[in-house]
Amino acid sequence: MPSLSTDLIRQLCQVKPPIMSASTLPPVCYWDSAVFERERHAVFGRSWIGVGRADRWKEPGDFAAMELAGVPVIVVRDIEGTLRAFANSCRHRGAMLLEGAGNCRGIKCPFHGWAYKLDGRLAGAPHMEQTLDFDRSEFGLVSFRIAERHGFAFVCLGSDTVDIDTWLGDFGDIHAPWSLETLVSARRREFEVNCNWKNFIEVFNEYYHLPYVHPDSIDDVYDPPDAPDAVTGQYATQFGTTQGTGGLLTATQEHQLPPIPGLDGRNRQGTRYTWLYPNMTFAASTEAIWMYEAYPISPGRTRIGMTICFPPEALEDAAFGDKADQYYHRCDVAIDEDIPFLEQQQRGLTSPYAKPGRYSYLEPSVANFACWYADRMVIAADA
Ligand code: FES
Ligand SMILES: [Fe+2]
Repeated sequence: MPSLSTDLIRQLCQVKPPIMSASTLPPVCYWDSAVFERERHAVFGRSWIGVGRADRWKEPGDFAAMELAGVPVIVVRDIEGTLRAFANSCRHRGAMLLEGAGNCRGIKCPFHGWAYKLDGRLAGAPHMEQTLDFDRSEFGLVSFRIAERHGFAFVCLGSDTVDIDTWLGDFGDIHAPWSLETLVSARRREFEVNCNWKNFIEVFNEYYHLPYVHPDSIDDVYDPPDAPDAVTGQYATQFGTTQGTGGLLTATQEHQLPPIPGLDGRNRQGTRYTWLYPNMTFAASTEAIWMYEAYPISPGRTRIGMTICFPPEALEDAAFGDKADQYYHRCDVAIDEDIPFLEQQQRGLTSPYAKPGRYSYLEPSVANFACWYADRMVIAADA
């Protein structure tokens, strides 16, 4: 794992609570290849990485190939319905096994035909009968821990990371009103952005930019937010009330779908923005949740997964299709407004003269993540 300069460690040590005294992350954390390499090990190698909603894999054989901070991974639902995660690397001579997403009955290497069952066992290996002491049972796919919680799927590459429930802490209690487990994905799309993965999730979790970046689309919907919640898990979360729903543009509020069943009180009058460290974030609103996963490709480029979910009852609504289109439109408009700013921020951060800044009270989740990240990067530097 590349080591960090003494100067960078000193700067990361400034990134600590209380957030009103803290500096922002050093700009080098957003573009430097040695920092990026260190993140792969110290952050992504030791976290439960969010890979989206578990209903990406509905049926046995449904798979998706992905890169988790440079590690090619296959996620697949096996015959028994258990979600599995494997290294996307053949046990013969290492070829990548699957690309994209789809459904398969088994996993067959395109290079020399080694065939794996959906539980990772090697089922067939042609022309290996003369190979001495070759025991197929020793050549199953390398597997990783994977867990489904609250309708989300998480993969852990590291073997010494705490279990998923310890990792999430009180996440389930705080989010119980939204019945996250029951929500179904109505639309998912993927795209790439020319910014660091942290920038992408930061902007989703702060109210500061709304009047500047979204003056005509969503700014008027959002009231000043509550203080962030104190939590015990590896996440940040902040609730705020809205004028109408956060799921629609100011101009399209009349297209509201029915609220998530069971949601009441203030929870029915606002949106909770949550950042599951390191790379997954969502807004739990009155009728829907919309969410992003950020998959780093390089320091300045990130692949994004974007999903919108509704309660199953909403899909029964005769007008669901037209109304849901308005929710998709709101998300697309907001992200299309954010992206030019993110790409511009990336260019500014890359200046050799960029320096750490300070936070407003309107960006506590950004600051809380930065503290968490700095801890990971520095603790690993000492390990
Ligand atoms: S590399 Fe997969 S079968 Fe040879
Ligand atoms: Fe935004």
